[in-house]
Amino acid sequence: MKHATAVTIESIGSFVPQRRVTNDQLAEFVDTSDQWIRSHTGIGARHLAEDTTATSDLAVQAALDAIERSDLTKEDIDGIIVATATPDYVGFPSTACIIQDKLGLNGIAALDVVAGCTGFIYGLEVARGMILGGTMHHVLVIGAEKLSSIVNWKDRNTCVLFGDGAGCAILSASGSADERRGIKQTILYADGSGADCLIVPRGGSKAPLQGVTVAAEDVTIAMEGRKVYNFAVAKLAETIRTLMEDNDLTIDDVDRIIPHQANSRIIQAAANRLKIPMEKFFVNIEDYANTSAASIPIALKNLEDQKGLKKGDRIIIVGFGAGLTSGGSLLVW
Ligand code: UT7
Repeated sequence: MKHATAVTIESIGSFVPQRRVTNDQLAEFVDTSDQWIRSHTGIGARHLAEDTTATSDLAVQAALDAIERSDLTKEDIDGIIVATATPDYVGFPSTACIIQDKLGLNGIAALDVVAGCTGFIYGLEVARGMILGGTMHHVLVIGAEKLSSIVNWKDRNTCVLFGDGAGCAILSASGSADERRGIKQTILYADGSGADCLIVPRGGSKAPLQGVTVAAEDVTIAMEGRKVYNFAVAKLAETIRTLMEDNDLTIDDVDRIIPHQANSRIIQAAANRLKIPMEKFFVNIEDYANTSAASIPIALKNLEDQKGLKKGDRIIIVGFGAGLTSGGSLLVW
């Protein structure tokens, strides 16, 4: 195959676990309320995986969904990139390798990308680079999380925010006929000085678990909510503005913006800053809560199911999260 000149999203798939837990159900075991969670975040419920389910299990279902919704067969796939903050195993093997084996695609390249909730955007860009470089032609880019496995269920500040799920985009090489479509531009950003703001403190090489007695708060999500909130609003607004300016677009030229679903107030605040009507933003946080690297592909799939995505639509996707990281892409669907 000759070198690709463009990279398109061939299809999108997703999977969320069946078990749906409402805010009222959470309030039965933690000191919170439906009213507080809705008014501070927009979240109404989250889907939680069973104890025996791993991130790779969610990812495999999303990948099969994406393959089924494409014109490709499983055998056409020659790369798997997985963005996750909740890998099946710490360190190695990568979750991508586990998924590859479960899909029966042994032999093709597989790797994980770690960029917090921005992981899906980073993953898309890694895949795009590899496709344009000629290393791969059809790549599964998966955002998958079992955040329930790293949530401290006694910490009301964080446990109400997160959910489990997976989304998968198939990125494909395309020739000149399709150049109008595809990923037009990506912006990536990271500021490691904010690493402590959103962190799982123990379990890595800095603070290994071996030989120590650990408390739940050592191995679960710790977040400085306000700092992350302020970063998120600023970066969401800046990334959207830059993508529009760099491509000579006004908001009327953009069909839809799909932000990472962390908090509907973050989206509202960025919309106010940019003077963009809230209707431009696709928001599905009410049903899924924050699924980190999975939230953008799950939202894309939801939007497609609602017939909200047409060929040729200009879409901006934008993420932010642990690292601290942020990023966004302009897509022509
Ligand atoms: O995806 C990765 C990126 N993550 C994010 O983007 C999250 C960013 N941060 C946020 O979305 C918000 O900061 C939160 C939703 C986490 C918190 O909202 P907030 O408006 O910043 O609330 P707060 O932290 O200022 O807390 C206000 C009050 C506190 O009570 P006091 O100290 O004022 O008496 C909290 O203890 O709300 C209390 N509170 C709760 N009350 C009931 C915190 N969590 C809860 C809860 N239920 N679940």
